Amino acid sequence: MTTILYVKSSILGEHSATNAIVDALHAHWAQKHAGASHVVRNLGTEGLPHLDMGTLGAMRSESAEQQATAAAGQKALQELLSADTLVLAAPMYNFGIPSGLKAWLDHVIHPGKTFQYGANGPEGLLKGKKAILVLATGGAYSEGPAKAMDFVEPYLRTVLGFIGITDITVVRAEALAMGDAGAASKAKALETVRAL
Ligand SMILES: Cc1cc2nc3c(=O)[nH]c(=O)nc-3n(C[C@H](O)[C@H](O)[C@H](O)COP(=O)(O)O)c2cc1C
Repeated sequence: MTTILYVKSSILGEHSATNAIVDALHAHWAQKHAGASHVVRNLGTEGLPHLDMGTLGAMRSESAEQQATAAAGQKALQELLSADTLVLAAPMYNFGIPSGLKAWLDHVIHPGKTFQYGANGPEGLLKGKKAILVLATGGAYSEGPAKAMDFVEPYLRTVLGFIGITDITVVRAEALAMGDAGAASKAKALETVRAL
């Protein structure tokens, strides 16, 4: 069965642009791909704890808290491994991704599971998966001088590429703090996902 994993990372709940766009895509695909499994992980409401040395070694740890963190990370990893398509939402926070999304990436970018090093260097192990990136920004970064300040899209393309996901579609709502331009950009992003 096809599995679609929707990962949200906004802290703004019902006020979030990325959540609204992901929800619209989810509603559309629930109809279009009715036979698929649709899995939602909301890092804004149910985030993963940051990795620390104890968590990395939790298999041998006596700490119930560290074991619980490691188990939560393993569950997130399994969700990603099981997905055929990843819908990954990333609001821009201070020019980069939300810390909750970074914590999720730290758990799922896992040697031997999602990448490995060989004689020719690193190799991503998640080949064949597709990703839809849903991005939102208060300013406008898709072109012009501010483009160089966007550390969200290049970073996510890099980390997803590292684990073997190179079939990436970007849906961007931008200028959201800039009045009518933002409203139009969000409307266009909603229209785009409803046509996917
Ligand atoms: C903590 C925080 C930091 C932000 N930093 C930036 C920024 O660096 N650049 C920008 O254009 N917008 C910034 N914004 C605005 C968000 O990118 C914008 O509100 C976007 O809609 C967030 O996506 P969301 O609505 O899905 O949460 C920031 C918002 C927050 C809450």
